[in-house]
Amino acid sequence: MILLTGGAGYIGSHICMALLDAGFDIVAVDNLSNSNRASLERIQPICGRRVAFWHADIRNEEAIYEILRSCEVTAVIHLAGLKAVAESNVQPMTYYENNVLGTVRLVSAMKRANVKTLVFSSSATVYGTPTYLPLDEKHPLRPTNPYGRTKLFVEEMLKDLHQSENDWRIAILRYFNPVGAHESGLIGEDPMGIPNNLLPFVAQVAIGKREKLVIWGNDYETPDGTGIRDFIHVVDLASGHLSALSHLKVPGVLTANLGTGSGASVLEVIRTFEAVSGRSIPYVFGERRPGDVAICYADPMLAEATFGWKATRSLTQMCADHWRWQLKNPNGYRGT
Ligand code: NAD
Ligand code: UD1
Repeated sequence: MILLTGGAGYIGSHICMALLDAGFDIVAVDNLSNSNRASLERIQPICGRRVAFWHADIRNEEAIYEILRSCEVTAVIHLAGLKAVAESNVQPMTYYENNVLGTVRLVSAMKRANVKTLVFSSSATVYGTPTYLPLDEKHPLRPTNPYGRTKLFVEEMLKDLHQSENDWRIAILRYFNPVGAHESGLIGEDPMGIPNNLLPFVAQVAIGKREKLVIWGNDYETPDGTGIRDFIHVVDLASGHLSALSHLKVPGVLTANLGTGSGASVLEVIRTFEAVSGRSIPYVFGERRPGDVAICYADPMLAEATFGWKATRSLTQMCADHWRWQLKNPNGYRGT
């Protein structure tokens, strides 16, 4: 049995789907602070199986221990956490409590239940401003905000844990920019309030919920002046977790990027989204967003070499699937 913390969230629900498809038994835990139970309910008709769900907080060690024990969990995929960079600047302690203390409690419950296989959701944000590209796993780690530091601290903590108890099997996966949705259009990203990230904002402009996109900066040193990112389809990202998990047969700590290895600019994303949706995306240029970098993309070779995973879906597919989800669910899960 595999436990997913944060299993009702955007990425978690897609990993649930991938694990069920591959025949795994799973249990999801979530405090629903940034998600909706409907995400998991919608998986059932697609996979023909129900996702066992516990409404619990990872900071509640006793509750997590009880779930690990009673469900006979053998491995944990740990996605639960807060992820908004701007919010982390104004509420850093909330982020340290949720992301760092939450992981301390989770690991403590795992130790008690003798579950020592863990996949952790880290982020490319741990690299900070790139000093060279593409970003490989050896790039210096200098996150520029509290959210990024919570990810770095947890990474370091997990390495120390393995150092002291070397029967742990740990994979640290650094995601680049997850976008898109399952091709069914039944699950997808459902941000609360105004979206921070590009694709959800673009999708809401396309459907008419927002008037126009503000492009933060058109004077970067890139071919069209707008920022370049390594967008990765969330279904590819989910399959990366399965590959990493199947590689965790022997003790150790594996740290790998999950990205495509190529970047797309904000203007390229807009053009691709317009092409797949047939809608126009009005935009204006604004000031650069503080903390943004010009270009960021992964060297994804390590993941391919160690656990045989490679992203395959194109930017067109990412936008098409994101659009299908938005069109079918103009109000996200709240319409259900
Ligand atoms: P999400 O907010 O959709 O999912 C996170 C889930 O964790 C939510 O369902 C939330 O309710 C839950 N949660 C938060 N705190 C919790 C707690 N204390 N106890 C139990 N549940 C809790 O976000 P996501 O995009 O699916 O991200 C999943 C993970 O991947 C996060 O750890 C995030 O930091 C990381 N990540 C995300 C991105 C991205 O762009 N989406 C990029 C890099 C890394
Ligand atoms: C942001 C986070 C990063 C996190 C990542 C994935 C910041 C500073 N960084 O990165 O830590 O890991 O999301 O969740 O918040 N853009 C616009 N207009 C918009 C939204 C975005 O022009 O309304 C541009 C941005 O300036 C950037 C690109 O689109 O050039 C991508 O932005 P976004 O989706 O927020 O991702 P990141 O900036 O990579």
